[in-house]
Amino acid sequence: MPFKRVYQISCSAILVLVAGLYACKKNSGGQGLPPAQSVGLKSVAPFPMGAAVGTSGLQNNAYYLGTMLTEYNSMTSDYEMKFNIVEPEQGVFNYAPGDYLVSFAAQHHIRMHGHNLIWHDPAALPAWVLSFQGDSLAWENLFMTHIEGEATHYKGEVASWDVVNEAIRDDNGQLRNQDSTPGDGTGSIWRQHLGPDYIARAFQYAHAADPNALLFYNDYGQEWGGLKLDSIVALVTGLKKRGIPISGVGMQMHISILTDTAGISAGLKALAATGLLVHVSELDISVNPNNNPNIAYATYLPQQAAMYQFVAESYRANVPPAQRYGITTWEFSDADSWIPAAFGRKDWPLPFDSLYHKKPAYFGLQKGVKD
Ligand code: G3I
Repeated sequence: MPFKRVYQISCSAILVLVAGLYACKKNSGGQGLPPAQSVGLKSVAPFPMGAAVGTSGLQNNAYYLGTMLTEYNSMTSDYEMKFNIVEPEQGVFNYAPGDYLVSFAAQHHIRMHGHNLIWHDPAALPAWVLSFQGDSLAWENLFMTHIEGEATHYKGEVASWDVVNEAIRDDNGQLRNQDSTPGDGTGSIWRQHLGPDYIARAFQYAHAADPNALLFYNDYGQEWGGLKLDSIVALVTGLKKRGIPISGVGMQMHISILTDTAGISAGLKALAATGLLVHVSELDISVNPNNNPNIAYATYLPQQAAMYQFVAESYRANVPPAQRYGITTWEFSDADSWIPAAFGRKDWPLPFDSLYHKKPAYFGLQKGVKD
């Protein structure tokens, strides 16, 4: 094992020790917290419990590290295994962050879910792709080279991949293609240059590179029902019927305390009916969906806890045990949520507060996952 990886693991081991001490102290009932809960979510759930994580938290924050190790047995790369990080220049691959994540996962016997191989969002694409000029063959080559390169590199270390992310439009259920209006984000550079069947080929390239990896289509909005849900179900069912190597579907579940619970259950039920694995892949529950600038932190914590409990109970009620790939939150502390910055508002969508203390949401989720 190269020195760098040994060094990384050694540093991580020291931080684990520190994290353990912090975790004991943190949960020793201080700040009026319930008595130390040495049993994490992973120990009470009958399916994998995961979180999206980044290398910075794992390497530099003992609370972040301690919470990850105590609570979760699955981890998803938040942003460091995406196209813009992994292939910043054509044919030049940067695997360092992802290598740290897969080494950490292996060291701690945590399942590694890779995210993601193909996504249209410019925030996750390098400049050279966004400005690429080439014929369809050149586009197919860069597309295939990226997928096969990354999936081959992580062969045997990544249990599963979000192969294609968010290919279906919100408004009409069509495949993202051209932007409806320039730069509105409804388009997909991949569909534009590779044709509608790029999704099937992405799965084929990933499977060729790592035949043992489970391969997912990942999207959001299934809980809305209607065209979005129907199109996602039609897409994954069609791929499965064609014998394309798809294993599962991710239901991101970026929801709020106002989300229709019937829609959540109907979405889970519809995905389970495909017979594919179902992963609640990016769960967070906003307490301020209407951007109230004067909202106080504690206002909606009970409603948030109830919604976390509902999601977990609905997952158990609507997804058969054999199809439960697990529940993953998109990070786990409010301090690391993408939502406040993305929506420019105060919000606290996750089970742990910004000091990594358990919120009522944590106990709602814990109650909901228990058989
Ligand atoms: O950590 C670097 C920092 O060192 C640097 O100074 C800074 C400015 O360049 O960038 C920081 O990295 C940012 C990273 O988030 C961590 O904050 C990246 O620029 C930024 O692009 C990245 O955004 C991520 C986004 O996907 C795009 O990759 C968000 O964290 C992540 O939460 C978000 O996650 C997406 C899922 O992949 C798909 N589903 C929706 C979800 C939310 O948008």
